[in-house]
Amino acid sequence: MKILLLGSGGREHALAWKIAQSKKVEKLFIAPGNAGTLGVGENVNISVEDFDGIGRFALDNQIDMVVVGPENPLVKGIYDYFKSNDQLKDIPVIGPSKQGAVLEGSKDFAKGFMMRHNIPTAAYRSFDGTCIEEGLKFLETLRPPYVLKADGLCAGKGVLIVPTLEEAKAEFKDMLGGMFGNASATVVIEEFLSGIECSVFVLTDGTHYKILPEAKDYKRIGEGDTGLNTGGMGSVSPVPFATKEWMGKVEERIIRPTVEGLAAEGIDYKGFIFFGLINVGGDPMVIEYNVRMGDPETESVMLRLKSDIVDLFEGVAAGNLDQHTIEFDDRSAVCVMLVSGGYPGHYAKGYPISGIDKVEGSIVFHAGTALSAEGEVVTAGGRVIAVSSYGNNKAEALAKSFAEAQKIQFTDKYFRSDIGKDL
Ligand code: AMP
Ligand code: GLY
Repeated sequence: MKILLLGSGGREHALAWKIAQSKKVEKLFIAPGNAGTLGVGENVNISVEDFDGIGRFALDNQIDMVVVGPENPLVKGIYDYFKSNDQLKDIPVIGPSKQGAVLEGSKDFAKGFMMRHNIPTAAYRSFDGTCIEEGLKFLETLRPPYVLKADGLCAGKGVLIVPTLEEAKAEFKDMLGGMFGNASATVVIEEFLSGIECSVFVLTDGTHYKILPEAKDYKRIGEGDTGLNTGGMGSVSPVPFATKEWMGKVEERIIRPTVEGLAAEGIDYKGFIFFGLINVGGDPMVIEYNVRMGDPETESVMLRLKSDIVDLFEGVAAGNLDQHTIEFDDRSAVCVMLVSGGYPGHYAKGYPISGIDKVEGSIVFHAGTALSAEGEVVTAGGRVIAVSSYGNNKAEALAKSFAEAQKIQFTDKYFRSDIGKDL
């Protein structure tokens, strides 16, 4: 098979690494990819949002399957673009339809969906510019801290957790006033939930589903989970509190009603569902849905997937995922993210990266890297490199990643040395 994978981050390098191991794959293209995906396939210089360019490339190169990494092309309707074109409609796209992607593209829709299907989540109400006074009154009925969410996509920055009522009211008005542009034209205000978070992933063909290994990610920039939110500073899998019993609750109360709810609402969904969960006194509740894999969770979850991922994708495309098996590696897997100094604020790009070739005990996934004109690997983003490792337990895997992380050098490199230590 010839596969085209869309995206350019650490998640996509990890997916590409896993796809390239499949015996079914004859050729893997990554658009646009990064300096790491070059090692497992061929990069194609097409943006993930250039649907015409992607379609043309798929036809010219007899692509048999398109796998979508990030949310943006899904929310913009890449699946529907292929389905509505006579020449492209038979090429399976692994990722939901535009309607399905609204689960991530609109927090208001996601909350409404959960209400309709009795899926446990924080109590909430949504407000737009026509009901500011009601929003301010609703805030007065809640206890601090206050959770304000921009309805639309904000590259992970659209959630504010505010300690006082006064600040919450001010932020609420600013959000409706355009703090996140059109994405915050509607604001979801919800009850604050207290607990540990866990990311659960499923692959679904719209009827059947397979649950992938769960993971925990570390969102804050600083040690001890302090400072600004990032795209994710590391991840670990498995998660100790996600016991068989807890995962049973997740499946019964959250996964099954979600997949059945999508089908009942006539929403075409063939792809990953990412459940951002929180463990509230032993009961899982949904913080958010994403319609793709997590990053940096993928950089540990792919290590634990033993089965051929392309075989699973074929099941998704054919609608017979129930006839495919999924197997996990029992070992632990972790990922430690090396980032540019200054991230998630301002940071410089273009610093040469050395020492990647010295890494032995870990798997290096590139996130924000590029090849310079001189053919040197340089930094090209905030999150630069994920150092992923196996271990017989979490501590062993972490020790490996931390040791190997020391070998990779670039100016102002930073990483959190406390990943996984809270569990
Ligand atoms: P989201 O973009 O929806 O994942 O939100 C970003 C982060 O904000 C989450 O990962 C949680 O840590 C936090 N968060 C979101 N909603 C809530 C909530 N209702 N209660 C507590 N924390 C929340
Ligand atoms: N790691 C969280 C995300 O991918 O949204």
